[in-house]
Amino acid sequence: MTAPVLDVRDLQVAIGTTPVVRGVSFQLAPGERLGLVGESGSGKSLTALSIMGLNRDPIRVSGGQVMLGGTDLLRLSRAELDRVRGARISMIYQDPASSLNPLMTVGAQIVEAINLHDKVERGQARARAADLLGDVGVPNPRQRLDAYPHEFSGGMRQRVMIAIALACQPEVLLCDEPTTALDVTTQSLVINLIDRLCSERGVATVLITHDLGVAAGFCDNIAVMYAGQLVEQSSTSTLFASARHPYSHALMSATVDLGVDVTSALPAIAGQPPLPGAIPQGCSFRPRCPRAVEACADQPIELLPLDGALVRCIRPITHHPGSGTHPGTARDATVGPPTEQERVPNA
Ligand SMILES: Nc1ncnc2c1ncn2[C@@H]1O[C@H](COP(=O)(O)OP(=O)(O)O)[C@@H](O)[C@H]1O
Ligand code: SF4
Ligand SMILES: [Mg+2]
Repeated sequence: MTAPVLDVRDLQVAIGTTPVVRGVSFQLAPGERLGLVGESGSGKSLTALSIMGLNRDPIRVSGGQVMLGGTDLLRLSRAELDRVRGARISMIYQDPASSLNPLMTVGAQIVEAINLHDKVERGQARARAADLLGDVGVPNPRQRLDAYPHEFSGGMRQRVMIAIALACQPEVLLCDEPTTALDVTTQSLVINLIDRLCSERGVATVLITHDLGVAAGFCDNIAVMYAGQLVEQSSTSTLFASARHPYSHALMSATVDLGVDVTSALPAIAGQPPLPGAIPQGCSFRPRCPRAVEACADQPIELLPLDGALVRCIRPITHHPGSGTHPGTARDATVGPPTEQERVPNA
């Protein structure tokens, strides 16, 4: 792998003293798209907000490193972080309505983002803002600069957010459920827009989504999160064809049953994820896992390499060779007893 633009190492986040993100590590290569998927409450948003240094009391980062190039963002002062955010790393949130200032015109907000890191003369900044609005598909961008957020539809507001996030040409873009608040047609338009703009600009992207159909279409690689930890990470095609962790496998199979399209939400799996503070000993997924054995309760399970993926399970699922290589084939997997690939708990 070429040097990563973003290298998250053993990120730990706590609410008060309760661990909620429990040692998340991943690397993002230049231009790569990584999906972060998992049920609601698994810690996806807190992971992204912690990378951006946007947590507020009582939520705090309790350990780890967030390396952007050679800089650990977790060690920066507030002022230093302000210079990096927007310029080198940006974030798009689920709800554009609450992320835009209702009292400022969209043009002023884009100009503000441009000026934050790149002082240019007013006319030039407005021209750049209009270009950006045009790039994100807002019609009549010069006139629309003077409109307020409430004069835009939800989809157009999200386009404005994307324009703001990309105003300073960041190396990394974190998108937290960027289409969840939008109607179905607008969802795919916005994802296609992020797709095109990130490709054109070579921006590396983390896409947080509960929608595996969107992840399948957009991401090179996918990390599956459960109870504050990554439980499986692999290429998108491998994950859909042959998920190894019982949780990922259940997600993928259920998605196949629903049909993989951009509207399919993460299906329910029997039972509930544990709440922070009530995470079972040993494997966190054990109470819901059809493959659980006594050894799964003994000690924490590590995320270990397995056939080019990373899997946190001592009884990973084996697959027949040729059981499929693209989204839609997960049902071909064989959930049989583990053989030579069964692993022993880590010492
Ligand atoms: N501000 C907060 N105060 C208390 N608990 C929170 C707060 N934000 C998130 N949590 C809890 O932290 C856990 C992870 O939340 P989050 O990262 O938002 O999950 P996800 O984005 O995967 O749905 C959940 O149990 C959630 O209830
Ligand atoms: S370690 Fe055990 S309980 Fe956990 S996912 Fe694997 S088989 Fe299931
Ligand atoms: Mg979230």
